[in-house]
Amino acid sequence: MAVVPASLSGQDVGSFAYLTIKDRIPQILTKVIDTLHRHKSEFFEKHGEEGVEAEKKAISLLSKLRNELQTDKPFIPLVEKFVDTDIWNQYLEYQQSLLNESDGKSRWFYSPWLLVECYMYRRIHEAIIQSPPIDYFDVFKESKEQNFYESQESIIALCTHLQQLIRTIEDLDENQLKDEFFKLLQISLWGNKCDLSLSGGESSSQNTNVLNSLEDLKPFILLNDMEHLWSLLSNCKKTREKASATRVYIVLDNSGFELVTDLILADFLLSSELATEVHFYGKTIPWFVSDTTIHDFNWLIEQVKHSNHKWMSKCGADWEEYIKMGKWVYHSHIFWTLPHEYCAMPQVAPDLYAELQKAHLILFKGDLNYRKLTGDRKWEFSVPFHQALNGFHPAPLCTIRTLKAEIQVGLQPGQGEQLLASEPSWWTTGKYGIFQYDGPL
Ligand code: F6P
Ligand code: MG
Repeated sequence: MAVVPASLSGQDVGSFAYLTIKDRIPQILTKVIDTLHRHKSEFFEKHGEEGVEAEKKAISLLSKLRNELQTDKPFIPLVEKFVDTDIWNQYLEYQQSLLNESDGKSRWFYSPWLLVECYMYRRIHEAIIQSPPIDYFDVFKESKEQNFYESQESIIALCTHLQQLIRTIEDLDENQLKDEFFKLLQISLWGNKCDLSLSGGESSSQNTNVLNSLEDLKPFILLNDMEHLWSLLSNCKKTREKASATRVYIVLDNSGFELVTDLILADFLLSSELATEVHFYGKTIPWFVSDTTIHDFNWLIEQVKHSNHKWMSKCGADWEEYIKMGKWVYHSHIFWTLPHEYCAMPQVAPDLYAELQKAHLILFKGDLNYRKLTGDRKWEFSVPFHQALNGFHPAPLCTIRTLKAEIQVGLQPGQGEQLLASEPSWWTTGKYGIFQYDGPL
């Protein structure tokens, strides 16, 4: 096994991981408890007294969780039987066996940051599924929907742009097509600013037309491998036999505005024939506040379809059609909500790894995917991306991410250090973005 650096963790006082565990996570938990409180009458209307009792139970489990976190208690195993409970508990035991410091127990401020955060969201889910009949309730649904509604104008602008583009797509020459591809890639990149966990669950919508800002945002793209994506897909298009497929997989991140930008990109991939199938991977449980579940995916397409705006509703109708025809396929897998780094996928989820190997290109959206791709470790800035992937190479892949964690590889020597000196929080605010590719050139 290759030697890898230590994990980011809350042990590093003052680090972003530390501040997240100390401030941001408790804030999110408090918001979740508050959301349950606010839905009390809805639970009563739906389920009577039983609903109110369930709400009380969920709140007490979550308050206990918040207390464990704030007093840095040892992690306890999951108790409620669910598809992933055994894998989770095995992983917690494994992490426990690695610890020889502290008092020998995995704890909030002493464990890898990635594990801590994933554990928190998994425990939130456990509190909900332990509280029937409200065990279906998505505590983050409201925030995700609000993000979508608040981004309406930008969404209309993007849908209009896409529909006009599709109408003239046949007349575009190679360079024009490439320009449009790059535009939509950048829109999908900046869409990743709209994650709701960075803002502690507060609104983070898109209310300006991002199409007009692309030129101004270009200097903030630190790594730009868009050309590789174009070469790869335009080559596939040229060399593709009649009945064969070009499959692009998108490992989704946030619902709301970001998901719209991903669907716009996916639509363009089909309309331009750069791909013939797009496969989407979402989460099986509510995750990191705004991550996309199948309910969010279906809900959003339904909303777009029923919009009063002509071009927006045309997009929704087309998207529904793609799904019916099997050109767009949505998949779930529990692996995406486990705490494991992606290099463990062949052992932990060999079926998923085998599926990903069928892709011509995999796009990983967002910050959390980047952390899992690189193991959330303290890599030097200039370590090659291929090395940090630590053996995870199912197919050519590209990460499309705005930076929201103290981790970045593949920079020029000195580049990261320089940024750090002039702008200490450059890698945690979402201001910078990357397209980082790994695969044949
Ligand atoms: O809170 C931790 C974190 O992973 C941050 O690094 C990031 O702000 C967020 O959660 C997830 O971001 P994204 O939605 O882009 O994966
Ligand atoms: Mg997210």
